[in-house]
Amino acid sequence: MCGIFSVTGSHKKAGNKVLSGLKKLEYRGYDSWGIAVQTAKGVVVQKDTGKISEVHLDLPEGSKAIGHTRWATHGGVTKANSHPHRVGKVTLVHNGIFENYAEEKARLVDHNFQSDTDTEVIAVLLSQAIEEGLDIKSAIRFVTQKIQGRFSILVMIDDQPGIWAARKGSPLIVGRGENETFIASDIPAFLEQTNKVNYLDDDELVFVDQGTANFFDLNTGKAITKREITVSWKVEESKKGNYAHFMIKEIFDQKETIAKAINHDNQAIADFVKALKSSNGVYMVACGTANKACMVAEYFFAQISGRKVNVVSASEMPYFEQFVNDRTALVAVSQSGETADVLEILERGKKSGAKILAMTNVESSSIARLADVHLPIQAGPEKAVASTKATTAQIALLLLCAYADSSTVNDFEKCLNRGRNILRSTAGNINDLLNPRYESYVKAVAEKIVQHDNLFIIGRGALYPIALEAAIKIQEVSYIHAQGFPAGEIKHGPIALIEAGTPCLVLGNDTEIIANATELKSRGAMIIGIADKDHELFDEWLKAPNCEEGQAIATLIPVQILSYHLAILRGLNPDMPRNLAKSVTVK
Ligand code: M6R
Repeated sequence: MCGIFSVTGSHKKAGNKVLSGLKKLEYRGYDSWGIAVQTAKGVVVQKDTGKISEVHLDLPEGSKAIGHTRWATHGGVTKANSHPHRVGKVTLVHNGIFENYAEEKARLVDHNFQSDTDTEVIAVLLSQAIEEGLDIKSAIRFVTQKIQGRFSILVMIDDQPGIWAARKGSPLIVGRGENETFIASDIPAFLEQTNKVNYLDDDELVFVDQGTANFFDLNTGKAITKREITVSWKVEESKKGNYAHFMIKEIFDQKETIAKAINHDNQAIADFVKALKSSNGVYMVACGTANKACMVAEYFFAQISGRKVNVVSASEMPYFEQFVNDRTALVAVSQSGETADVLEILERGKKSGAKILAMTNVESSSIARLADVHLPIQAGPEKAVASTKATTAQIALLLLCAYADSSTVNDFEKCLNRGRNILRSTAGNINDLLNPRYESYVKAVAEKIVQHDNLFIIGRGALYPIALEAAIKIQEVSYIHAQGFPAGEIKHGPIALIEAGTPCLVLGNDTEIIANATELKSRGAMIIGIADKDHELFDEWLKAPNCEEGQAIATLIPVQILSYHLAILRGLNPDMPRNLAKSVTVK
């Protein structure tokens, strides 16, 4: 949440470069924005509420600048609360939460605060530390020691060279250009200029000036050496191309991502499964959509390898942590690899001696680097807030792991190949769905239900978590109240919500679920079946070809397209739903 970005170079275009880089981080927050440029005449700050993508400015010339695109945590969405914050000679942007800011703020009685943010408190503390005679590095170290919570900051000091940045929990990456250096929350901000990066780890500090970067341990202040990494992301992968939105582009990307999932590295899967097999209890922790992918995997492991895994929302895991010990495998699944609730569980689990297994899409994310065994999801950059291609890639990879887990000493390859064959046929089948003809068919169904305020989804087995995921997709992009249920549960309460014409998505067409759909239909529900074949009970039918265990993936495709078109028909931007951000780096 929140994107931060800085440029320092031998040219004078730092301000405009920050503006264009921030637009590529907009998925991290889009309530408000701000940029500070160090010009020959002093620091010039431009900031306002609204989306950075709608800002068209020619910023004054300057060789260094910092900027921010905000997802509000402390203080409403106002110009005063947007970053950068300036106090004395300090100009600062911040991503994360200063949990104990109120206590520190209460002590700063002489300062006339201009905002309600926790960030301004950091700027005040830093300004005071510098005024009291600490050099900049020591001042940043002194102030960051006071901050409880996860954060990253970028700092410019008037009349002083370069830009400083510190990280404790929220991502920061240094991009190494020709005579210019970038620091960003995520790589797309500077990918057009360079793919050479240094990842900042927790408790690290960096000073950058034009083409140089010097790294330090935030606790000791001692210089450290960081490895330079060349990232393989392509600029085109982070662009919309001819698509109207990232969401629909990423839905169509699934033509390739599911096929690509077949090529996951045998050794990485073997390491993953070995850790599962040697554990005495598996907990899968994730949030939101990634949590639903884990719930699908719970069925895979139960049915394919006979393993009981415990799937817990990361935010609820603290209530079960007494069961985590040095025999536990903690499995984290996350697109961003930065989700704060997940990271915290893993950090504590590691201290308890648990083995940390992770699947992340962002390969050098905090979660990936913390893990003992990491499986990259390999779906390519996902920019739309609503997760689509990363979700199906997670499910595909988890299916392979369940098949690998079913192996005994000599048949690892054979078992894994069974999983691969299912994915191969799933990839072929979903290819038939990802075309304009099918999309317009789904859109026509969206037109029939778009005026409804309530929508229900039922599924059984591995399609039950898909019903929950369908609800998340529809809620977050169309703002329709959507709820998913295990099909057999509806008669225990939810059926009271059904009125004449209430749309209900029924995932599948087997005898059991048709019986449940009949109960809904008898109360007047409009039944939209998502299944391999039409059924007389369905008022509308969206085809999801029969893919065996790949059915969870095949069923998600029409759900994703339907959600997208519900948002479009309601005049909403599906890439930037209200109140949300792509990467949830606060608790
Ligand atoms: O980056 P993560 O996969 O850890 O994110 C978890 C959730 O925040 C995420 O899946 C969220 O629910 C999506 N917006 C759903 O589309």
